[in-house]
Amino acid sequence: MATIYLALFSVVVIFLIIVKCESISRTDFPDGFTFGTASSAYQELQMKEIKETAYGIPSPDNQSDIDLMKDLGMDAYRFSISWSRILPNGTGAPNPEGIEYYNNLIDALLEKAFGDRVKNWMTFNEPHGMAIQGYDLGVQAPGRCSILGHLICKNGKSSVEPYIVAHNILLSHAAVYHSYQNNFKESQQGRVGIVLDAKWYEPISNKNEDIDAARRALDFGLGWFLDPLLLGDYPLSMQKLVGKRLPEIVPEVSRFLKGSLDFIGVNHYTTLYARNDRTRIRKLVLQDASSDSVVITTSLKHGVAIGERAASHWLHIVPWGIRKLANYIKDKYGNPPVIITENGMDDPNRSHLVLDKALKDDKRINYHRDYLSNLSAAIRQDDCDIRGYFVWSLLDNWEWNMGYTVRFGLYYVDFKNNLTRIPKSSCQAVEILRGACELVLEKFRNSQLFKESSKVVRSIDRLDLCPLPNKNSWVIDGANEKAGNFFEDVTVWESLDG
Ligand SMILES: *[C@@H]1O[C@H](CO)[C@@H](O)[C@H](O)[C@H]1NC(C)=O
Ligand SMILES: *[C@@H]1O[C@H](CO)[C@@H](O)[C@H](O)[C@H]1NC(C)=O
Ligand SMILES: *[C@@H]1O[C@H](CO)[C@@H](O)[C@H](O)[C@H]1NC(C)=O
Ligand SMILES: *[C@@H]1O[C@H](CO)[C@@H](O)[C@H](O)[C@H]1NC(C)=O
Ligand SMILES: *[C@@H]1O[C@H](CO)[C@@H](O)[C@H](O)[C@H]1NC(C)=O
Repeated sequence: MATIYLALFSVVVIFLIIVKCESISRTDFPDGFTFGTASSAYQELQMKEIKETAYGIPSPDNQSDIDLMKDLGMDAYRFSISWSRILPNGTGAPNPEGIEYYNNLIDALLEKAFGDRVKNWMTFNEPHGMAIQGYDLGVQAPGRCSILGHLICKNGKSSVEPYIVAHNILLSHAAVYHSYQNNFKESQQGRVGIVLDAKWYEPISNKNEDIDAARRALDFGLGWFLDPLLLGDYPLSMQKLVGKRLPEIVPEVSRFLKGSLDFIGVNHYTTLYARNDRTRIRKLVLQDASSDSVVITTSLKHGVAIGERAASHWLHIVPWGIRKLANYIKDKYGNPPVIITENGMDDPNRSHLVLDKALKDDKRINYHRDYLSNLSAAIRQDDCDIRGYFVWSLLDNWEWNMGYTVRFGLYYVDFKNNLTRIPKSSCQAVEILRGACELVLEKFRNSQLFKESSKVVRSIDRLDLCPLPNKNSWVIDGANEKAGNFFEDVTVWESLDG
C-alpha cells in the first residue's frame, strides 16, 4: 500500500507545483545559505531571554524571543551591541555588566543551537544614513545641518560634515578590520564586514543623461563606502562633483582601506527612479551633500508609482530591484560575498484596527516571497555570491523618527498588554518559506489530524520526506494560503483513502 500512498502524495505535490508556480522554498537557495532575523539594541525591545537588571524594559513574561526565532526555523540572529552599554562614559574601561549582558545573550543563543559564538562581525550599520540623516538633513541624531539657512538645525554644515563623518567611519572601520586580523583572526576564525544601506536606482528613461544619473546616485550611495573599501578611492563622480570638500585618500590610506572587508552587509528595502537634474536648482538652494550628485530621485514615472507603498513614505515595494543591485555589486566589485542583512516592510500602526486584521499581513508575505525569488534568481541564474538573508525584523520595533507609528515585525508586539509577542501570518509563511522540512513534519506529527489519523496519514511519517525528494515539494502561495494548506491537502488525501 505504501507505494500507492506515495503515488497519491506525488499527485498532490505536482498539483501544488502547478497551482502555485510563483512559490519559493528553502531549496531555491544553495546549501549553507543562512536565514535569520535582524534587530538593533535601541530599536528592538529588550530580549526576553535575558534577565534584565540595569537597563531597558523588564521581562514581562516567560516567552523567549530566541524561541520565537527558533520557531521560525531561523539559522542565525543579527543583533547590535549598544556602545553605551559597553562604554557608558564614552571612553575608559568597559562596563562589566554590559559585557556580561552580551555574553549571557550569546550563551542563550548557543543553547538553542545558533552557531558557534560570533563569527560574523559588522563594524557599522548604515553609515550612509548616519552621514546624510544626521549631518546633512539633520532629521536623525545628532541632528546637525545647515540647509535652508539653519532653519532646521542650529549647528552643522551640510555640504562638508557628511563627508568628514563618512571618511572617519571608513578609517575606523579599516582600523577595526586590521586589529581583528592581527589580534583575533587566528584564534577566533571570524569575519569582519560593514553594513551598508543601499537602494537600487533605475534610470527613469533610456536617455544617456538619466542612465548616468542612476550611476551617480549609486556612486553617492553604495559607492561612497564600497569604492574606498574595495577599490581604494572615492568614485570619480564624487571626486568631480564634491571637489575639495571630499577628504582626499592619499596612497598610504588607500592601501589601509582597500580590501578591509571579508563580506558586505547590505540593507536593502526599495528602489527609486533617477533622473538627471539639468537645472541644478536643488543644489543651488540646498548646498548640501544630498544634492551634490545632481540627481532627482522619484518613485513616480508618468504619475505611476514604481511599486506599491508600505507604511513608510520612502518604502515602495520593488522586488526586481534586489536582483539588479546584486548584479551591480557582482559586476562592479568582482563578485564579493554579500549578506542581505536587512529586508522587510512596515504596516501602519492603526489604533482602530482590530488585532485579527493587524495580524493578517499578506502584503508582508508577498514582499518576502517576491524579494526572495528575485534574490534566488540572482544567485542561481546570475551567479551572484549572496550568502544569507535577514528579515527586518523579528518584532515590531521603535522605527527611528517614526517611533511606534509603524510596524516592521514578523511578530506583533502588543504594547498595551505586557509587550506580548503575537505571530502575524508572515511568521508561518517565513517558516515554510525557509523550508525547514523537519520543522513542518514535527508540527504535522503534533497536529490533531495526525493523532486522529488513519494508517494512511500515519504512513507519511514513515516515508522519507526529509530531505525533500523534489525541489518544489514544500511551497507557499504568499497571497492568502499558509502552512495550513499542507494539512488541508493531507486531509484530502486521507479522504481519498477512505
Ligand atoms: C519559565 O519557563 C521555564 C522553562 O519553560 C520554566 O522552567 C520556568 O519555571 C518558567 N518561569 C516562570 C516564572 O514561569
Ligand atoms: C562612568 O562615570 C561615572 C561617573 O564619573 C563613574 O561613577 C562610573 O564608574 C563610570 N563607569 C565606568 C564603567 O567607567
Ligand atoms: C521579481 O519580482 C517581480 C516583481 O517585482 C516579479 O514579477 C518577478 O516574477 C520576480 N522575478 C523572479 C525571477 O522571481
Ligand atoms: C498604535 O496602535 C495602538 C493600538 O493598536 C494605539 O493604542 C497606539 O496609540 C498607537 N501608537 C502610535 C504611536 O500610533
Ligand atoms: C502584565 O503582567 C503583570 C505581572 O505579570 C500582571 O499582573 C498583569 O495583569 C499583566 N497585564 C496584562 C494586561 O496582561
